[in-house]
Amino acid sequence: MPLPKEDYVSNTWKDGLFANKVVFCTGGAGTICSAQVRALVHLGASACIVGRNVDKTEKAAQDIATARPGAKVIGIGAVDVRKLESLQNAVDRCVHELGGIDFVIAGAAGNFLASINQLSANAFKSVIDIDVLGSYNTLKATLPHLVESGKKHRIDPKTLKPVPAGTGGRIIFVSATIHYRTMPFQTHVSVAKAGVDALSHSVAIEFGPLGVTSNIIAPGPIGGTEGLDRLLPTDNIDSYTKSQPLGRFGSVRDIADATVYLFAETGSYVSGQTLVVDGASWRMSAGGAASGSLAYPDFLLSGDAVPNVKGQKTSKI
Ligand code: COA
Repeated sequence: MPLPKEDYVSNTWKDGLFANKVVFCTGGAGTICSAQVRALVHLGASACIVGRNVDKTEKAAQDIATARPGAKVIGIGAVDVRKLESLQNAVDRCVHELGGIDFVIAGAAGNFLASINQLSANAFKSVIDIDVLGSYNTLKATLPHLVESGKKHRIDPKTLKPVPAGTGGRIIFVSATIHYRTMPFQTHVSVAKAGVDALSHSVAIEFGPLGVTSNIIAPGPIGGTEGLDRLLPTDNIDSYTKSQPLGRFGSVRDIADATVYLFAETGSYVSGQTLVVDGASWRMSAGGAASGSLAYPDFLLSGDAVPNVKGQKTSKI
């Protein structure tokens, strides 16, 4: 059964907007990235999603394909973004089966709550490797195709008229807002996401002249996601929601709409930017992980370890 459209994309965009376009997405089986891809597929794109878990990735691809009759969506599992070779094979298969790559979403990420005391050097490295090296590998493996697509979809500098064939040569890095102010128990992620942001800015400068745009989407607290489940103490959901400037979490549709904006003609002159989709959440001085039973600074001063959060495992210091 296809998901209702309003769950993952607004009615703002016209059907067929991304006909004949191909999107390649890492972490595409995740809650946020699958909504981004589902929106693009609904609007006409073909897609290739990759992930570490074979079953989860293949099932997610089949499910995303229900967004539009006749849609082509490939799910390739056993791909670890930390390994360039496995990504390269997936990119080659995507190009072979779908004909090229016009859009890339670098979405694979690793996260868990841990204080510096609980974070071994290897745990720190794992997240840096998944987020920073993984984004770089994604870029390296897809760049030749992005450049090719960028060339085809270039806007004439004299006429500034949109290209009839639509858009291409665009990459989005999915980042975060955690590192803007910094958050306890998120050192590894803050450092990693700062690196991802710097990478995107460099791509915009180095590959803009070749017709490629590079931007960041920085989601805030998005309801129903693995990230929020992992990061927000469950004893604190109601008061946290109430403390948000818009009084609610974001939805995956909010992130998908931002993605469509950046990949469509609307985003043609937007590059080297960060689109923060967080309802002004990060501008609040309090909140995030260090709240409820982990309230700052009392929890840190107690000397306790961050207790079991979903998906957590104990680490050597
Ligand atoms: N607190 C402290 N350390 C932790 C931890 C936690 N909650 N979870 C994992 N680690 C440590 C491990 O102990 C290990 O360090 P060690 O060798 O010193 O013991 C290190 O991190 C690597 O763990 P491992 O499970 O072998 O790594 P992995 O590469 O298989 O997994 C993670 C990567 C750790 C990021 C894992 O959480 C993951 O796979 N996440 C993917 C999904 C995800 O995070 N999505 C985020 C959505 S926001």
